[in-house]
Amino acid sequence: MSTKVYIPPPKDLRFLPAPPPLEPEGPLVLEIGPGKGEFLLHLAEQEPKTTFIAIEIRHGRFAKIGKRAESRGLKNIYMIHGDARECLTRLFRPAMFERIYILFPDPWPKRRHSKHRLLKPELLAHLRDFLKPGGAIYNATDAGFYSEEIVSAFEEVGGFERQRIESLYPTYFEKKWKALGREIDYWKFVKV
Ligand SMILES: C[S@@+](CC[C@H](N)C(=O)[O-])C[C@H]1O[C@@H](n2cnc3c(N)ncnc32)[C@H](O)[C@@H]1O
Repeated sequence: MSTKVYIPPPKDLRFLPAPPPLEPEGPLVLEIGPGKGEFLLHLAEQEPKTTFIAIEIRHGRFAKIGKRAESRGLKNIYMIHGDARECLTRLFRPAMFERIYILFPDPWPKRRHSKHRLLKPELLAHLRDFLKPGGAIYNATDAGFYSEEIVSAFEEVGGFERQRIESLYPTYFEKKWKALGREIDYWKFVKV
């Protein structure tokens, strides 16, 4: 008989429609910073047997995606309102996710704001632990300097194989950066 310990979700985090199931029957996928949520809603429609968890720091965006998922009748999206850097290790366990998407993370180009950049070795080391072996982290970045920094951070952490990929979905942000003529790097980092 398995002895599962119930750990209540942290009270300071908000969830829509409820705290996510951490051991669902099908695959589990994480998105950090879904923005307007177009890609998340699209994936959840395409893959009804997959459970999607998304962490969004901005309350308005968190609430809007929750509402859209509800109005489309999608039962496989669980939104978390919080800072991914603070809530990841409090909620997740090793080897639970098949895929993690972090598309167009804010580049914070000014040096004095660089501490706000999300994709740093410490966070990547946690994400590597939460991924199943053979799972992958997907990233798109429109700022060349940040893309280089991200690649270096993955290399520092180790345990990934890097592949260049095509655009995954034309989100609002992707269309905006493309219209401004920005070069975009799309990466898939596979846990080996
Ligand atoms: C430039 S937008 C990209 C949105 C979406 N991924 C896309 O490709 O269209 C970055 C998103 O990440 C969110 N974000 C930034 N820092 C975050 C953090 N520490 N934890 C969770 N979400 C974060 C922002 O609020 C914003 O919605």
